[in-house]
Amino acid sequence: MNSSKRNILITGGAGFIGSHVIRLFVNKYPDYQIFNLDALTYAGNLENIKDIEDASNYHFLKADITDADKIKTLFQKYKFDSVIHLAAESHVDRSISNPKIFVETNVTGTLNLMEAALEIWKENLEDKLFYHISTDEVYGTLGETGLFTETTSYAPNSPYSASKAASDHFVRAYGETYNLPYVISNCSNNYGPNQFPEKLIPLFINNIIENKSLPVYGDGKYTRDWLYVLDHARAIDLVFHKGKNKSTYNIGGFNEWQNIDLIRLLCSIMDKKLNRNEGASEALITFIKDRPGHDKRYAIDASKINKELGWDPSVTFEEGLLKTVEWYLKNPKWIAAVISGSYKEYYKKQYL
Ligand code: NAD
Ligand code: DAU
Repeated sequence: MNSSKRNILITGGAGFIGSHVIRLFVNKYPDYQIFNLDALTYAGNLENIKDIEDASNYHFLKADITDADKIKTLFQKYKFDSVIHLAAESHVDRSISNPKIFVETNVTGTLNLMEAALEIWKENLEDKLFYHISTDEVYGTLGETGLFTETTSYAPNSPYSASKAASDHFVRAYGETYNLPYVISNCSNNYGPNQFPEKLIPLFINNIIENKSLPVYGDGKYTRDWLYVLDHARAIDLVFHKGKNKSTYNIGGFNEWQNIDLIRLLCSIMDKKLNRNEGASEALITFIKDRPGHDKRYAIDASKINKELGWDPSVTFEEGLLKTVEWYLKNPKWIAAVISGSYKEYYKKQYL
């Protein structure tokens, strides 16, 4: 990216990954103006970025990307010259209970942003960029061997991954049809501080703290490739600045774990940290009914971003998991706040 692009809109910056991206950009690039646009859904928590909220190059805009008029007005007003789009409904289980909001936010919301961008960029597309943050789940599932590459066919299996695949296709189509300058990256499972305790690692950490059962779906022999969230943020920084126009990059940790092995490792770390007898946390494991359409295995070939942009994961899984556990143990108020009121209110509204 040319250094003249300095009015950057980052969507979803109050969420898990977005909060780390916002912090990195605000601190690393004092000359950029960083606009964090977020609707503050159940997953958006401004506490996640409290430490940078007074920075002179940081601005918060509360808005919903499904509100096309509002999004257009904001583009007209602030003349963003690039977008890093993370805002989304991100949880597979929620997409199974309530697919519609995934289409509205992830597909229509993405379209609204591209429409608003094109309206102000159409006179001069040079130095503009729409960066769509996506997932490895668009590729569907792998068998025992093989890796997802940037040319693997899309075959999404959950409403969540279908909505992300659809939005990736729309971004690409806007590139072809309207010449929208874009990049897309498809990343594997992230973990680390600020992740909402509905996703495997933070949910299980919290359940262990509270001595609640650990609900393992099916036989637990499902494989995910885990990446520490700050390594994803570093990759996003690189793709944003150096990624080739109209291309996609896979991002992953070269770090495959079967759920049950990961859970056992987490349990042993938790036993030590909580001074509990060895095996106390593992005794909480309960095998439950499988997730419908559960993808068997994800694994990323991240050699393109490595070769083209020089990115490599820097945090080992053991190190990252330990840091993550320590963060959750140090932040019981954060956990309590996100699990309380707003979380339940959201569920009530969605499922009534
Ligand atoms: P998250 O659920 O923690 O955060 C999503 C953020 O988007 C929240 O701050 C929420 O308030 C905001 N948001 C939701 N709907 C909105 C709307 N209609 N308008 C404006 N803001 C809205 O998600 P995350 O895990 O940080 O994921 C961020 C992005 O990265 C998503 O696009 C997701 O698909 C992608 N991704 C996530 C992972 C992962 O492991 N978490 C891996 C690969 C890709
Ligand atoms: O691969 C990238 C994706 O990773 C992102 O695009 C998604 O936004 C993110 O949520 C994540 O999706 P997963 O479905 O892989 O993550 P989740 O943490 O929900 O589940 C991880 C694995 O653990 C999966 O195989 C399901 C299993 N699981 C999950 C939960 C919440 C359980 O066995 N029990 C549980 O309670």
